This record gives sequence, structure tokens and C-alpha cells, in this order.
Amino acid sequence: MMATSSVVHLKGKHLLTLADFTGEEIEYLLKEAVKLKAKQKNKEPHPYLKGKTLAMIFEKASTRTRVSFEVGMHQLGGHALFLSKNDIQMGRGETIQDTAKILSGYVDGIMIRTFAHDIVEQLAAHSSIPIINGLTDDFHPCQVLADLLTIYEEKGYLAGNKLAYIGDGNNMAHSLMIGCAKVGIDCSIAAPIGYEPQASIVEKAKQIAADTGAVIHVTNDPKAAVHHADFVYTDVWASMGWEAEQQTREKAFAAYQVNQALMSYAKPNAGFLHCLPAHRGEEVTADIIDGPQSLVFQEAENRLHVQKALLAALLA
Ligand code: CP
Ligand code: NVA
Repeated sequence: MMATSSVVHLKGKHLLTLADFTGEEIEYLLKEAVKLKAKQKNKEPHPYLKGKTLAMIFEKASTRTRVSFEVGMHQLGGHALFLSKNDIQMGRGETIQDTAKILSGYVDGIMIRTFAHDIVEQLAAHSSIPIINGLTDDFHPCQVLADLLTIYEEKGYLAGNKLAYIGDGNNMAHSLMIGCAKVGIDCSIAAPIGYEPQASIVEKAKQIAADTGAVIHVTNDPKAAVHHADFVYTDVWASMGWEAEQQTREKAFAAYQVNQALMSYAKPNAGFLHCLPAHRGEEVTADIIDGPQSLVFQEAENRLHVQKALLAALLA
């Protein structure tokens, strides 16, 4: 059952990881995203953030996150500022603390994409406005909100689905485990030896799952993970910041490609998901990502709709 808006008060909160929100809050955001998507398609104005400004700090590259947040703020009647690390004094050593305090005096929220997760934690600790994690080395919560919205659109329900994630135990694996655990989706992760998700985050996801009945499982066997899955997810083998390991990782991950053979272990017509950008012929074959089971473009578009719901809830 999806939550009703009466139980949800997200104004002023941070989103550093999906552990910050309850399952009800996540489901509320998905419901709001469905409404906002319909308004957008029907060209109905929805200026819930008139006069509000979002600062967007980027220390890594982005297509989807940058464009969806910027366009989302515009569609909500607000404004977004793109601040690359080279444009602001943080890139020249101004402290996170000072940056947090200064920006808190100018804007209504900050979205940040950076490396170490403790940078967003420090930003949150020293700001008086909501901080949204737009990807760190450890988490990518906004992507998982879009993934959950896509699952909900496809199936009409969240709890009771099974998602299999194949590949690197990275920010996506971590956020998928937490997000799935919150809403009752079983999540099986298959990663090569040495590339498993962080044990403390697996433990946290299992604790969260104890309340929703979701099963969180980590294995080195991709076929076991994919068995009977409703959705199969993968991500690049070398994330941003790990490019120097590309060749070593290509060898380590060779048996973890999502292809027709691996998809045959999932449920018939299981959906294929990928946060993008993708490397066809590496983590996924072109026939899968460009084939009938792929949901990746719907998933990417959903970044816009669910982040608009998030922005409206946190900043309005
Ligand atoms: N999925 C995602 O976050 O894409 P970008 O790196 O293009 O923002
Ligand atoms: N794991 C990838 C996700 C990109 C959206 C990275 O961190 O580069």
C-alpha cells in the first residue's frame, strides 16, 4: 500500500542516503512524482518553488543529475545555480563548513555531487538548509528514487518484487540495498570477490529490511542473484574516480555481464535497469539495454519527476 500525504513531513530535511527517510516518506515522494509527471505531460503549471533557489555543486561529471535538477527547479518556478568545483572557492581550499554557512545565507537548498561521503555529511552539519546528495563514492539516493518510481510504474506495487544487482559493490549497490529494504523489495547483489558492497552498509540494509520483510542477499554468483528476479540492474565496472582500474576491472568483472544468458535466469520479461551512463559490450550487451526488456530511458526520465517531488517536499 502506498502511504498517504498526511503522515509525511519532509520540509527542511536532508537527503544524504535513503536511510534518512522512512518507507512511508519514500512512497509519498513516488506518489507525488506520479502526479507531477502527469502535470508535466498535460502542460499544467506547478510553480511550487516560486522564488526558491537551489545551488548545485559538482565535483564530478554529470548529464542526468545536472540537467534533471536544473530543469526540475525551472519547471517548479524556481532557479538552479550550477557551481562546478572550478568555479567556486571550495575548489581552491575554502572549507566545507564555510561554504555551507555562506550558501545557507543565499539559497534554499544545496545539491552536491562529490567524492567522499563525509563531505556531504559535513555540509549538512554546517548548513541551515536542506542538503541533497547527488552522488558520492558511497551512495546515489536520487537515482534509486527514480529506480523505485520506474518499478512502481511497471508493476503497480513495490513490496514483493525482487531486484538483482550485478556488478560493482559501489554507490549504486549500496543505495539500491537501502532503498529496496525501506520499501520491502528483495535485493540480491552479485559482485566479484573483492568488489562486494561494504559490510557495514549491507548490515544496515539488513537491519532496515527486518522491519519490511525484504530479503537482502550478497553473493559472488550472478545466476543465483538473478534467479526469479523481476528486475535486473547493473552499473559501470569502473565508477567515476576509479578509471585507472578499468583494465583490471574488465578482467575481474568479465563473468558479471548482463546478457541474454544471464537474463534467462530472471522471470520472463524481467525489466532491465541501469543508472546510466552505460558501456555497451562491458557490463551489459547492446541487445539487452536497447531491447524490449530495457526500461533505462523511462528510468532516466523519472529522475526529473521524482526529484521535483523531492525538491517540492524539502524546500516548499
Ligand atoms: N545516473 C546519473 O546520475 O547520471 P549522471 O552521472 O549523468 O548524472
Ligand atoms: N557508479 C557510477 C554511477 C554513475 C551515475 C559512478 O559513481 O560513476
